[in-house]
Amino acid sequence: MRKKIVAGNWKMNTTVPEGIELAKQVVARAAETPANVGLIVATPFTHLASVAEAIKGSKVELAAQNCADHTSGAYTGEVSVAMLKSVGCKWTILGHSERRQYYGETDEKLVVKTQLALAEGIGVILCVGENLDEREAGRHFDVVSAQIKNVLYNFTAEDMKKIVVAYEPVWAIGTGKTATAEQAEEIHACIRKVLADKFGAQVAEDTTILYGGSCKPSNAKELFAQKDIDGGLIGGAALKADDFIGIALSY
Ligand code: 13P
Repeated sequence: MRKKIVAGNWKMNTTVPEGIELAKQVVARAAETPANVGLIVATPFTHLASVAEAIKGSKVELAAQNCADHTSGAYTGEVSVAMLKSVGCKWTILGHSERRQYYGETDEKLVVKTQLALAEGIGVILCVGENLDEREAGRHFDVVSAQIKNVLYNFTAEDMKKIVVAYEPVWAIGTGKTATAEQAEEIHACIRKVLADKFGAQVAEDTTILYGGSCKPSNAKELFAQKDIDGGLIGGAALKADDFIGIALSY
């Protein structure tokens, strides 16, 4: 059985004290969520060490939102995977559309970052997704398939055990415009097929594929009921503990 996950991407929100408070609120309600649903919070770098402390002993796991594409050295402003590991990070998000769009994150860089993360035993939540123009041109399957192939086809079936995919249609992020359950499911099924073509049916079957984009307590149930949707990567709604937990309770 593949793992179900509800992950909160806090993006560039909250001060450190606010983040600690939010983490504590999530921890306080984490035990209400089903045992087979993993909870992850992806905080800004500055928050990681304190949030690691706040979630200690709970089922909540810690993620970063990005990592450097080098191991160490003269890369001012960057944060390495070894640093992430040293503060208790279990995961890093990679390839979020905001990083692809604003910070020049390319599939080539994502291959390197994924290699570095896996080498340190850090799990990767790899984001893929088409923008509005690509969807309107009917290119969404091609765009997402290419993103998966360009990055994940460089890895092995063994590596895939530490990789989660998140499908986040760019037009649904922060817009209040959720993909319908059918729109999301057909892309998730396509991603699973692309994974099966390279790694075989079992690896594809075992890979957790999350949906992200205006996911909230009111629409999570329908999305999560789809057979290829294994949870969510939550932005705005992850900033309120009750909404975040509410989403996890949709299982
Ligand atoms: P929203 O849930 O705010 O649409 O953001 C989704 C997202 O980008 C999570 O990574």
